[in-house]
Amino acid sequence: MKKLHIPVVLGTARKGANSIKVARYLFGELKKKSSIKTKLLKVETFMLGRTVPDWQSKKLTRPWSKEVDAADAFVFVIPEYNHGYPGELKMVMDQVFDQYYRKPCLLVGVSTGRFGGARVLENISPVITNFEMVITGKLYFDNVKELFDQNGNIKDPHSWGKRVQKQYHMLYEDAKGMKVFRENEKSA
Ligand SMILES: Cc1cc2nc3c(=O)[nH]c(=O)nc-3n(C[C@H](O)[C@H](O)[C@H](O)COP(=O)(O)O)c2cc1C
Repeated sequence: MKKLHIPVVLGTARKGANSIKVARYLFGELKKKSSIKTKLLKVETFMLGRTVPDWQSKKLTRPWSKEVDAADAFVFVIPEYNHGYPGELKMVMDQVFDQYYRKPCLLVGVSTGRFGGARVLENISPVITNFEMVITGKLYFDNVKELFDQNGNIKDPHSWGKRVQKQYHMLYEDAKGMKVFRENEKSA
């Protein structure tokens, strides 16, 4: 089987966001897998302005649309802002609709507090479902300021590694299955 493409999406454009450390760590772990190709996508690259563009503006939305098209699944890294998700993530995601259909995703919450973004992942789940994506699992990075050393390396690679690999296994298997499902539907 061809390699599956699973990008890691950093869901905030906030300067100095701690979530970038989580995104880089998850990207690094995914890059090690021979059956997967990945890239790190930052929402700031795809922001277009004050609100979502007209859905007919294919030229404007093409950069994000191309990334969504190419993806077999996603890892979304989402910091918790007042229990919700960053507005810029929603505005970027809203640029397209059909291309998300039946694509699996792993949701990753990030917070400086002890809940690890549990509330933001609850909040974004109905949005993801509305896009007709499939949530394969959730990971919670709590106390994010304490998790990485000065070089950006995770301080406890063993215990985080176990959690991450379990999620990646489920994400990969579901991505494989859903790709077949989508292809079968297209050719039916
Ligand atoms: C506008 C804003 C709202 C926040 N609200 C929450 C919150 O509701 N719960 C929480 O645990 N942390 C909250 N935080 C702290 C974030 O969890 C913290 O900044 C963490 O590092 C993840 O966000 P970051 O990637 O932007 O740094 C908030 C941060 C910002 C900037």
